[in-house]
Formats: sequence, C-alpha cells, structure tokens
Amino acid sequence: MKIAVIGPGALGTLLATSLAGVDDNEVWLLDHNPDRAAQINRKLSLDIEEQKFSLNIPVTSQPDRIGIAELVFLCVKSMNVEHALQRATPLFSRDTLLIPFQNGIGHIEAIIGNSIARNTAFGVTSQGATLMAPGHVRHGGAGVTKIGFIDSADNQQKKQLEAAAYLLSASGFTTTTVPNILDHIWAKLLVNIGINALTVIHNCPNGKLLEIPEARETLIAAVREGEKVARALGIHIENDPVDLTLSVCRTTASNISSMLQDARKQKPTEIDAINGALVAKAADLSIDVPVNQLLVEKVKQRQAHYQS
Ligand code: PAF
Repeated sequence: MKIAVIGPGALGTLLATSLAGVDDNEVWLLDHNPDRAAQINRKLSLDIEEQKFSLNIPVTSQPDRIGIAELVFLCVKSMNVEHALQRATPLFSRDTLLIPFQNGIGHIEAIIGNSIARNTAFGVTSQGATLMAPGHVRHGGAGVTKIGFIDSADNQQKKQLEAAAYLLSASGFTTTTVPNILDHIWAKLLVNIGINALTVIHNCPNGKLLEIPEARETLIAAVREGEKVARALGIHIENDPVDLTLSVCRTTASNISSMLQDARKQKPTEIDAINGALVAKAADLSIDVPVNQLLVEKVKQRQAHYQS
C-alpha cells in the first residue's frame, strides 16, 4: 500500500518510521520545506528505548513525486491544516483515505469542508514522541490511538478504516476503530485544555502543575468549563475529565507539553485550536468560560512578546 505522511514533526516522523517496517508498504514523508526534505531524505532515525533504527524512507517537498496514495496521515499543526492539504492535492484520488491527527478541535470544520480529501476519518492518539532533531524521533511511550468517521461511512470506507487500524497496530500504534470519534477527540481536548496553556504560563513540565496550588485550581476550573460546553453539545463523556487530566499530569510528569515546546521555540502555539476553540463554542452556546478566556489571553500575551 502506498502511504503518505504529511508533516515531519514528532508524530509524523514517528508514524513514517514505524509504518515503514510493516508488510511491503511504500511509505513517503511530505515536508513543505525543500531544504529540510533534502537533508533528511532517506536518513530518518527512530529511537525506541535503547535501540536505534535508521530508515531509508523517501522524504520530499514535492507531492507530485509521491502521486496518488491509498492512505494519507496529516500530522501538521492545527493552524497549518488547510494549507498543507492544499499543497498535497496530488496525493488524493476519490478513494484515498485521509486520517488527520491534530490536537484540539480547531481543524475539524476546516477538514470536513475541504474539497481535496473527500474520504476522511479522524484520529486521536496519546502515543508519545519527541523530535530530537529534523528526521530523528524518539518514541516516548506507548499510548492508545483511536480512529473513526464523524459522518456515516459505507462498507468500503469501513474496510479501509479497519485496514488502517491493522497497519497502525502492526507498526506499534495500538489502534481501535470507534463509532464515536468526536467523543474521543473531546476527551483529549479536555485534557489539553487543562494542561497545555498552564504549562506555558508557569513554564513547567506537566507534573509541576499538581504542585503549584494556583495552577492545580485553574486546571480543574478550566476542565470543568470545558466539560460544561461538551455536555451542552451532546458529547458523551465517559470518565471524569478532571480525574483524567490530573492522572495525565502524573503519568506524563516530566513531559514538556507540545504547547510549551512551541512557546520555548517561539513558534505559534495551538492555543486557538484548544482553549480558543472552546471559548468560541461556548460563545455560540452563551456559556461563560472566564477561566479559559484568561488562559487564551495569557498565552497570546506571551506569544506577542516573542523576540523581546
Ligand atoms: O499536547 C501534549 O503535550 C499532550 O497532549 C499531553 C497529553 C498534554 C502530554 O504532554
């Protein structure tokens, strides 16, 4: 099967390097940056615990060189989704299955409404990955991956989804197909709402939020606001989202959240797709979410002071 992974960040590089070892797949990595693509072409490396693997995977900035793929994983930041899809038009036929993996919910509407990839499922993963250098990823601990269609799917699409889940599982991403992917996306969103912005504000790893009383209180209040909005939208919440978020802080205690990694590199963060998207949904429903509003403002203030 021809598989294309769009985006050479931590997750994209982990996916490409992991999938390349499975069956006889032809795996490509698409990078929008031609210099970096040339630098890492056929020189990807994957560290899993103490083992190092070198992978001869083609990396290109030219989607024409890849051509039509059967399966495409979109692993770019939420704010880059539309542009990345536009660039990747040559990868898609009517049947190509697209599976985007983004934090937050900011990408969903943009992807559902697009005219390039008509056959789209969504994915959510807690697989850990750290980009050590361009093309060099470290597997950061196994997590669960869920994939599913938001809209109804026909038998052919369901078969494609099962095949994708098989491939992902065989590559080390333990994956299940689910009928309610939106509930799972929201479950992860609520965790990110509680952790990511606060790690930027306190400039600390996830576990520290439990030790700073003010941060812990804000985390709980932000997640409760998110839960209220989710319930108003009819999202089914299986586990208490505050307990889940506190437990993710413990299990990922030494992790630098993805948002803090961006902030430290002075890159735009995903605040609009996470707390910002919640604030927008809450406004549509006339629900007050002052804690999330403040988190958005504080992270944006920090972004405005980059370079100074
Ligand atoms: O965005 C992240 O960093 C991760 O989703 C999480 C769960 C907060 C762990 O760092």
